[in-house]
Amino acid sequence: MDNFTFYSPTYFAFGKGTENEAGHYVKRFGGHKVLIHYGGGSAVRSGLIDRVKASLEKEGLSYVVLGGVKPNPRSGLVYEGIELCRKEGVDFILAVGGGSTIDSSKAIAVGTVYDGDFWDFYSGKAQAEKSLPVGSVLTIAAAGSEASGGSVITNENGMYKRAYGCELMLPVFAIMNPELTMSLPPYQTASGCTDIMAHVFERYFTNTKEVEITDRLCEGVLKTIIKELPKVLENPNDYEARANIMWAGTMAHNDICGAGREQDWASHNLEHELSALYDCAHGAGLAVMFPAWMTYVMHHDVNRFAQFAVRVWGCEMNYQNPEETAKEGIARTKAFFHSVGMPTSFEELGAKEEDIPKLLETLQIDGRTEGFFVKLGRKECEAVYRLACR
Ligand code: NZQ
Ligand code: ZN
Repeated sequence: MDNFTFYSPTYFAFGKGTENEAGHYVKRFGGHKVLIHYGGGSAVRSGLIDRVKASLEKEGLSYVVLGGVKPNPRSGLVYEGIELCRKEGVDFILAVGGGSTIDSSKAIAVGTVYDGDFWDFYSGKAQAEKSLPVGSVLTIAAAGSEASGGSVITNENGMYKRAYGCELMLPVFAIMNPELTMSLPPYQTASGCTDIMAHVFERYFTNTKEVEITDRLCEGVLKTIIKELPKVLENPNDYEARANIMWAGTMAHNDICGAGREQDWASHNLEHELSALYDCAHGAGLAVMFPAWMTYVMHHDVNRFAQFAVRVWGCEMNYQNPEETAKEGIARTKAFFHSVGMPTSFEELGAKEEDIPKLLETLQIDGRTEGFFVKLGRKECEAVYRLACR
């Protein structure tokens, strides 16, 4: 196991009715004037925004609202949010929604208290030194942004996605009521669960040896999704299954599964170019990229892939030919994504093979590599994209 630091300061309030305590938590974490930030309207239609407002009012807190965050959140709304927060003297950002809304909130939080352009952080030009606190009321189990220090924003000037992460952006609290996720359409539910699995894959396929504890945690999260996702697709109001999925989403990405091991992240970065260019759901893009990446890198450590097949999918170990077992695990992964309605090829996603040079260009891969399990240069990234076409 590698040396590591693990810092996860987020306070969790999990369960039915917890959104009605939003005001209490904002106050507890020092907020006076709040920006309520939300997405395209699902939280308004469900009455959630009204409940959150009532909860803030009960605590005597004032607020302004800014909706309109799109999936794959855009830089334009971040600038708008920053301006609003400065004008109104906002000192706390409350994200009500999914990963896109939380990520947009984090960008506003660091941008409001920075003299320059917030994009400096996402382009690698500067490091954030302070931030407004961010809290969230989560409405979809997926990105894990409720307990991660990361944020992913699409720059509208060129339509490319960039991630930025720092401890300052770790949310101070996450309110997680599984009931709020019951209104998710099946495609969004499956796409969120694919993202959860992908966050585990990025950590599971590692070169670090002797990481039994995190291997087992990873396998547990994966097996949970494999068991619970079909249940909620069958019955969207299955509270227990929704609850297990929601906590799995946090466990998959607050880094409890990644402590002490090298992580990969090539598939995520290759996917980000897909969701930036085609505006597809991030999870759907991952369902396309991961089986291709697995196929491409499998020979680097056949035994790890065989272990994955046996422990996660229940495949039988072929001791004479572990490669067969490894391949079976990848095939089972792809078949599972298909069975829950996810695309598993460029064609099914609506992506085009002839756009690969464009994807490589926005990835800015020249002169550097992606990933750590296997380091992929331009040629290798292109090969993975090509494998994903079919
Ligand atoms: O905008 P509304 O109307 O709310 O609709 C959303 C949106 O269309 C809908 N939705 C959310 N909760 C709902 C609901 N519809 C009905 N009922 C509900 N309860 O679902 C759609 C997707 O929402 P979004 O926030 O985009 O989903 P997700 O949580 O999957 O976030 C995806 C974004 O997170 C980034 C991705 O790149 C992508 O931009 N990521 C962020 C990470 C992080 N910060 O740590 C890590 C991830 O790997 C990921 O890259
Ligand atoms: Zn992800």
